[in-house]
Parts: sequence; structure tokens; C-alpha cells
Amino acid sequence: MIKLCSYSDIPEGDAKGFEIQGKKLVALNYRNEIYIYENSCPHRSIPLEWQPDQFLDYEKTFIQCATHGALFKIDTGECIAGPCVEDQLNKIAFIRQGDDILIDL
Ligand code: FES
Repeated sequence: MIKLCSYSDIPEGDAKGFEIQGKKLVALNYRNEIYIYENSCPHRSIPLEWQPDQFLDYEKTFIQCATHGALFKIDTGECIAGPCVEDQLNKIAFIRQGDDILIDL
């Protein structure tokens, strides 16, 4: 297991991008639960964001791909609108140890 970040690095309602061991990831804090996904849109297998750490739609209720606007549920990664509906983001398992978020890639 390796440390991705601290729990407190991701404020509630926000998202943060990481690159670790050559893999791009996004971690989100939604209603005080952490979700981590591979930062790769299932439509074209490219990163979701254009601007650093900008992964959410305007209302911050969905993950939004910056390229063609696909929307994904934050808690499941399921695509609910856009060109890859019913596909989903690849969820990354993690454990929380104190304030540390640890992942196994
Ligand atoms: S690359 Fe994400 S919606 Fe097309």
C-alpha cells in the first residue's frame, strides 16, 4: 500500500488529481466520503480534466469530462449522460489509516 494523500487534503465537495507510479487518479470528497477513480474517461481513455483539479460540473454534483461533457456519478463512477452512458470510471480501492489514504495499485 502506498500513501496517496491525507484525508484533509481533499475538502468536502471538492476533487484533486494525482499522478502516482505513472497512473493518473482523481480523489473526491462527496458528503464526507472519499472516492478514488482512475483519471481516464471511458469514452476516449484520456484524462477527464483540462484545468488542474477541475473535475466537477458547475453544481458540483457530478464528475464531468472536460472533452465532451460526459457526467459521472461521484459515488459510483457510473456515466449518466454523454457519449459513454452506462460505462463507468474505474474505481480504485483504498483504506484510510488515521489521516492517511492508502492505495494499492
Ligand atoms: S473523452 Fe470524455 S466524454 Fe469524450
